[in-house]
Parts: sequence; structure tokens; C-alpha cells
Amino acid sequence: MNKTIIVSNRLPLQVSIQENSLEIVPSVGGLATGMKSVHSEGNGIWIGWSGIPENDLSPDLSKKVQTKIRNEKCVSVPLTSQDIEEYYEGFSNRALWPLFHYFMEYTEFEQNEWDAYKRVNENFAKVVLENLEDGDTVWVHDYQLLLLPQLIKDQKPNTTIGFFLHIPFPSYEIFRTFPWREEILKGMLGSDLLGFHTYDYERHFLSSIKRILRLEVQFNEINYHDRTIKVDSFPMGIDYDKFYNAALEHQKSSIEKSDLRKRLEEHMSEDKKLILSIDRMDYTKGIPNRIKAFEYFLDNYPEYKEHVRLVMLAVPSRSNVPQYQKLKRETDELVGRINGKFATVSWTPIWYFYRSLPFDDLIDLYISSDVALITPIRDGMNLVAKEYVATRTNGDGVLILSEMAGASKEMNEALLINPNSYKDFAATLKRALTMPQDEQKTRIKFLQKRLKRYDVEKWATEFFKALEGTKKLRQGKVTK
Ligand code: ADP
Ligand code: G6P
Repeated sequence: MNKTIIVSNRLPLQVSIQENSLEIVPSVGGLATGMKSVHSEGNGIWIGWSGIPENDLSPDLSKKVQTKIRNEKCVSVPLTSQDIEEYYEGFSNRALWPLFHYFMEYTEFEQNEWDAYKRVNENFAKVVLENLEDGDTVWVHDYQLLLLPQLIKDQKPNTTIGFFLHIPFPSYEIFRTFPWREEILKGMLGSDLLGFHTYDYERHFLSSIKRILRLEVQFNEINYHDRTIKVDSFPMGIDYDKFYNAALEHQKSSIEKSDLRKRLEEHMSEDKKLILSIDRMDYTKGIPNRIKAFEYFLDNYPEYKEHVRLVMLAVPSRSNVPQYQKLKRETDELVGRINGKFATVSWTPIWYFYRSLPFDDLIDLYISSDVALITPIRDGMNLVAKEYVATRTNGDGVLILSEMAGASKEMNEALLINPNSYKDFAATLKRALTMPQDEQKTRIKFLQKRLKRYDVEKWATEFFKALEGTKKLRQGKVTK
């Protein structure tokens, strides 16, 4: 039976060593949480990195890791500490990530890191080819593996290859500054179908293809050598039922409430509101901006002092990369300053958690909040915004969402803001806190309907349908 091979840098599970024994936790991030549902239902395998440097493992532990990973229908690609430093922290997260998110000033281009990026993409190709059988489909994910589609195509030209980018594709003016722009585009063109979250990212990509590679593009098809490559947008959804049902379960009176939930509820009443934000600790997420805007709000709407609390969960991420360390320091400092400025004996304006919380705690946070404040400076999609909406089983709650998140394109009923305007931010927060229940329910209802219809399963099905279509195109069954 033919299978689908999912390939991404990070596997849906992460291995670490705690006091000489192996600990396995779910991976954080939209790619892992979204694809997990697709993977668990399919008959395929998932190839990626386990999250631990290979040289930290004794042969015995390495074997144990492999077995644990195999049990989850996964295969690991070993990365050494040097690979992690140069390919992952280096080229992927100091060059590609900031550039694709328009943080030009953070971008560093280093030749040795580019060499490592090529080397590790080749290692991934090797593991894919070892597991690939005739008739299998390969689905490659994200910016860490932009060269992989062509590396596979070179060896197995008949394999059907899909690629999905989980982050924005930047405008041509940004992308053209990239020293290895041609190699990157050619690597991606090994795919038969390229998917992006939004039409804008797709358009930016096609514009780079035309202007950098000078290829012919007709509507959303690229002619490259003797092949036709399809490009389309597929806004990623969430596992809607999982979040909705988990929220229902947590609200059952028979369920014993967690300590976190009890603490949150102590702050819930008619005149006390909880505002929630959840992100990986990443500079694209606009965390310092959000804290400063919250300060502006408290300064300008002082009647809300003691009546609102910002619950801010920042999940540690890429903490060896200097820009992330700087962001952590800045966040700690800002939270400290603002709490110091406004706190009273009975009120702390910001509750700040810098850690990864289990799924059940995430659900408790979602269901206990009156407002979700999702205000990235730039974000490919943002699934947290969608998860918040899915957990509003009573139909109330308000989502404030940045226009710079891909999700804003499909979530018009949210209150959309420009995260750089504190004035807009504060006025919108005030509007959210005073929004009548009826209006909240109408907005949530529309959002839920759309998220339920276009969930992650539908997203994957649509992608596969389009990918199948490219197969027929190649076999000449469809005339253009
Ligand atoms: P990004 O992909 O940039 O991290 P998203 O908002 O698209 O941003 O995705 C974040 C994902 O990580 C969400 O699906 C969210 O539920 C998940 N997540 C956040 N915190 C945790 C956690 N502590 N453990 C597991 N998953 C988490
Ligand atoms: C984003 C990226 C993913 C990545 C995730 C977590 O969602 O698009 O590719 O896996 O962040 O980041 P990390 O560097 O920990 O894998």
C-alpha cells in the first residue's frame, strides 16, 4: 500500500534527557500541532529531528530514542550539535526566519551556515530516500527544508512531492536581498505543488519566480524544464472538534477543576476580566509591543485598573539564538516594570508564565478568558487565534487579532488591529471589554462555523486533492 511521508525539521514529539532517562513531550508550534492530527489518521510516516543532539546520546539511549520514535510512526534524522548550531539556530533561525518575517535587521548571512543548511537538507533527503517506495507521496514542510524537494526529485523524478510553507513568503523586494535566492527557489521547485497560507504569500512567491528565475508563470502554474508546477493557497485550519470537545469536557460540573483554573476563576466576575495571550517566545509575536500597549491602555483608561488582568503565556523557544535571549530579557524587564508601576496589594496587572504548559492547562486558559489578545508583528497564520475561538463553547469571548497574522484573512469577525498603533490597540481593548454579549455571540458563531468547516483535516484533504491533480497532469491524463 502506498504511503505518505511527511517531512519537517521537527517531529511532533520532542525527546530530552532528564536525569539519565528519556523524556518525551509534544512539540510546540503550529506545524507540529496541526500536522499531528493529519499524521495520526493516515497510514504514513513522519521524518524529522527528535530535538536532541545525536552526540548527547549513548548508543544505548540512541536505540531507545529510535524505538520510542518508531512507535509513533516517526523516523528520526540525526543532527549533531554542529548541525543544530549552524543549520537550525544559524541558517534557519538567524537568516531565513527573520528575513521571511520582514525583520531585516536581525538577518545574518553566513557562508558556513549556508553550507550546513545544504548538508543537512541532503541528510534529510538520504533518510527520505531510504524510506521511500514507488508510488509513495512526499509532503515536505517549512523553511528549514527548502532545498529538499529538488534533492528528492533529482533522485526519484516520478515521486509526487508537495511542499507547504508555514511562514510568510516575503515580498520580492525583501527576498531579492537573499544571497542564495536562486538556489532556494530552485530547491522549492522540485515540488509538484507548492502551498502557502494566504494568497498574498503565493503572489510574492510567484513574483520572485518571475523576476529572479525569469520563468514563465501562467496563472498559478510555473513551467520549469519539462514540468508544470502548481502553486496555491491553503489556509491551515485546526483540529476544531478536539479543541471544542476538550473545552466542553473541562466545563462539565463533574470534572474536578485544576489549580490553575481555580486561580483563574478567583479573578472572574462581572467587573473583572481576564485577557489572554499565548505565544512561543518569538520576536515576531509582538510581545514587548503588547505589554507596552497594555501599559498605554492602563494609563489612558485608568478605570480598568484592578479590573483587568493580562495572563501571558510565553513558551520558551530557540533559546540559544541571541535575538531570542534578548527578547526574553526585554520581556522580563517590561513585565517587572509594569507590574511594579501599577500593582496593588490585591492586584497584579500581568500574570506572566514563561514555560510550556500541558494541553489541559491550555484549554483552561482558553475557556477562562474574556478576551484573547493575539497581536503578532508578523505571523504566517497563527493557530492560537483559531484555538481560542474553537473553545468558546458558550459562544461568548472576544478575539483581538493583528492584521499582520495570516489568520486575519479568514477571521473578519475578530477585532482586527494594527499592533504598532497603541492608540488603536487600547481603544480596541476597551471595545472588547465592553462588547455586549449578543455581539460577542454573533461574531464567535460566524468564526466557529468557518473554522469547523475548514478544519485541519479539510486543509490536508484539499492539499492532497490538488497534489493528486498534479499527478494526472504529469501522466498527461489532463489536457491543459
Ligand atoms: P507558531 O507556529 O509560530 O508557534 P501558532 O499560533 O500557529 O504559532 O501555533 C502555536 C501552536 O503551539 C498552537 O497550536 C498551540 O496550541 C501550541 N502550543 C502552545 N503552547 C503549547 C504548549 N505548552 N504545549 C504544546 N503546544 C502548545
Ligand atoms: C513555527 C515554524 C515551525 C516550527 C515551530 C516551532 O511554527 O513554522 O517550523 O517547528 O515554529 O519552532 P522550533 O524552532 O522549536 O521548531
